[in-house]
Amino acid sequence: MNLESVEKTYRRYAPRYDLLFGAVFHPGRKAVIQRMSCQADEQVLEVGVGTGLSLPLYPATTQITGIDLSKEMLARAEKRVARDRLDNVRLQQMNAQEMTFPDNSFDKVVAMYVASVVPDPVKLVNEMRRVCKPGGQLIFVNHFQSDHPVIKWVENLLVPLSAKIGFNPGFSLSAFKRECDLEIEHNHRVNLFGYWRLLQTTNDLQPKDEEPAVDATTTQSPELESFDVAVAKMR
Ligand SMILES: C[S@@+](CC[C@H](N)C(=O)[O-])C[C@H]1O[C@@H](n2cnc3c(N)ncnc32)[C@H](O)[C@@H]1O
Repeated sequence: MNLESVEKTYRRYAPRYDLLFGAVFHPGRKAVIQRMSCQADEQVLEVGVGTGLSLPLYPATTQITGIDLSKEMLARAEKRVARDRLDNVRLQQMNAQEMTFPDNSFDKVVAMYVASVVPDPVKLVNEMRRVCKPGGQLIFVNHFQSDHPVIKWVENLLVPLSAKIGFNPGFSLSAFKRECDLEIEHNHRVNLFGYWRLLQTTNDLQPKDEEPAVDATTTQSPELESFDVAVAKMR
């Protein structure tokens, strides 16, 4: 998959997305937002917000930013925001792999059914980390490759069709965790037959401008420093 094929596929999906993926993915969306326990005035970023099916589920006091690559999906989200008067939501067309937000902009960053859609999940997670405050929450809900041998076989057969169907059916949880260096703190099954998983982790990224830790064993005390200066003057 590449960005053009994602845009093309979701342009095609947009008019029927809610019908095809509205109800079937909805328990997962609800579980994510419940898990986030959003507080008043918190800043939440939802990447790959799609047609905005999750947006009415957030508390009205939480500030939500939704981004998506597909303008056709976003146009539907915009209609929903206007129709439901969701004044706490702002939407923007943006690539989640290269976001234009400054570092540490959000308290929580969430990707619902997006990690197996983007061409480069490592770039996605790195960007989610960067724009999330250190100690903030990163939350994912996604389908991952099944452990069941028959289902796994079918999923692998479908992998060559990823660009057409709009996601990678062979998306592996262990590879995702390893390649993105993710320490998952919470992992539970959601949706029909528990076929999807909700993952939560704390953002461990330190702010870039943080002072490096001082090594007490090599640092001189002010007294010793002034002693050195006095000795130098005597020489
Ligand atoms: C399966 S849909 C999920 C939509 C929504 N989150 C939901 O709960 O139904 C995947 C969405 O991710 C978007 N997407 C894929 N790659 C993206 C990227 N690199 N940046 C932003 N959005 C992206 C697609 O356009 C699509 O709207």
